[in-house]
Amino acid sequence: MLDIAFAKPALPKSGALVLLIGEGEAPSGVWQSADEATGGAVTRALAAGQFKGAKGSSCVILAPGANLTRVVAVGLGKPAELTPVIAEEAGGTAASALQKEAAGAIATGALTAEQAASVAIGAVLRSYRFDKYRTKEKPEDKPKLAKLTVLTADLGRARDAWEPLEATAAGVFLTRDLVSEPANILNPVEMADRCKALTKLGVKVEILGPKEMGKLGFGALLGVAQGSANEPRMVVMEWHGASGGEKGKKKKSAKPVAFIGKGVTFDTGGVSIKPAAGMEDMKWDMAGAGCVVGLMAALAGRKAKVDVVGLVGLVENMVGSNAQRPGDVVTSYSGQTIEVLNTDAEGRLVLADVIWYCQEKYDPRFMVDLATLTGAIIISLGHEHAGLFSNDEDLSAKLLAAGTATGETLWRMPLGEAYDKQIKSDIADMKNIGGRPGGSITAAQFIQRFVNGKPWAHLDIAGTAWSTKDTATVPKGATAYGVRLLDKLVADYFEG
Ligand code: BES
Ligand code: MN
Ligand code: ZN
Repeated sequence: MLDIAFAKPALPKSGALVLLIGEGEAPSGVWQSADEATGGAVTRALAAGQFKGAKGSSCVILAPGANLTRVVAVGLGKPAELTPVIAEEAGGTAASALQKEAAGAIATGALTAEQAASVAIGAVLRSYRFDKYRTKEKPEDKPKLAKLTVLTADLGRARDAWEPLEATAAGVFLTRDLVSEPANILNPVEMADRCKALTKLGVKVEILGPKEMGKLGFGALLGVAQGSANEPRMVVMEWHGASGGEKGKKKKSAKPVAFIGKGVTFDTGGVSIKPAAGMEDMKWDMAGAGCVVGLMAALAGRKAKVDVVGLVGLVENMVGSNAQRPGDVVTSYSGQTIEVLNTDAEGRLVLADVIWYCQEKYDPRFMVDLATLTGAIIISLGHEHAGLFSNDEDLSAKLLAAGTATGETLWRMPLGEAYDKQIKSDIADMKNIGGRPGGSITAAQFIQRFVNGKPWAHLDIAGTAWSTKDTATVPKGATAYGVRLLDKLVADYFEG
């Protein structure tokens, strides 16, 4: 991870410098020092580049003098409209402009210490790279930035604000690592092993295999898994940050909040097989589970004062001589029977059993599930919002607010009886597809049939889990969408 340090504002003696500049701001502080040391070159270059501090804009000045290799101005937009997301994006833009430098300093100008910490996490998140399988990249082609010094006046406050953010960033990186990993490496067993590593953060990790799940009666999840030589797993991760506390001060354990992830480590579609083109994307069909794992790491890493349980259902949806057939009827852990008319609608089958187990075992305050569930949500919302489906107004409002605050935005979608009718089966309690109209909604209706009177939200992240282009804080590839969102949900509403 990019190394972050905080230091008092001062013009660096050499190297790279970033200036964060708001619209209408006049040179002062480090900006003014840089300008004076370079005989006004910085301000002349910004004028020539028509840089005015607009949000998202930047201007690179190479070797302006005073031993500086580069000065990068990054616009913050109108100071009155500055948000943490804008500060993060400025940090990300800065990091991206510094990738040819080994180190850099970033002058945060008029920003507060907390906003400076936001700049830092933005820079860190943008600097993520999954390069473990590149063996032949020339050193000069590799991004070099290893250390960023954030210049801000109140070092104590900045470091305090940074500490939990660093843990959150580590959670995001864990999720991105999991989601990026190809499916020949990351099968359900391997993913369960990686969950086990959270033990060192103080998370209690329990792993169930096919035998245990068979005994419990997980007919829906196991039906998906049966076509693969790779065994399924369910992983249950508990973080006791509210009740586990310091020794001697044990509080009574409160009901936990629960997060549940779809973890299909590869989705061929099964016998209802997918077309070849683009099937490689289905290595990231475990992004919901990947998010839950990274979220647990973030919460434990920053010692969040909350009791939380994370559950992931890990299966591989393959074709094989023992694969599930279209028309098969399975009995879920809830006792409800499901006619599997399309083996490619497998995520909901996995979630059905894990969600029921979560309620039976933990009686949670609420449940949020995340799943790359439907292609239809991409048709509805593109890649800009994840779909939010919920039976609870209060939980929905909190999730929507956390989405706006983190930039991991959600859009509320409807549920209702008329949609539920679409999944009526002729021979079982329900079927696993509802036809083309409202495909994401009927998928959510299916999941809702396994919600037993608990506040619940389902996030369809099929459009947001992976990005084909760089954005300010997310390099293309696995986004880890949901980690920031749910970390913020917990921080703002469920801690302490
Ligand atoms: N994993 C897919 C959904 C998906 C599609 C995720 C594209 C990311 C990108 C899911 O298991 C699936 O195959 N859904 C089907 C459901 C259909 C058979 C009712 C779909 O969306 O086509
Ligand atoms: Mn599928
Ligand atoms: Zn799938």
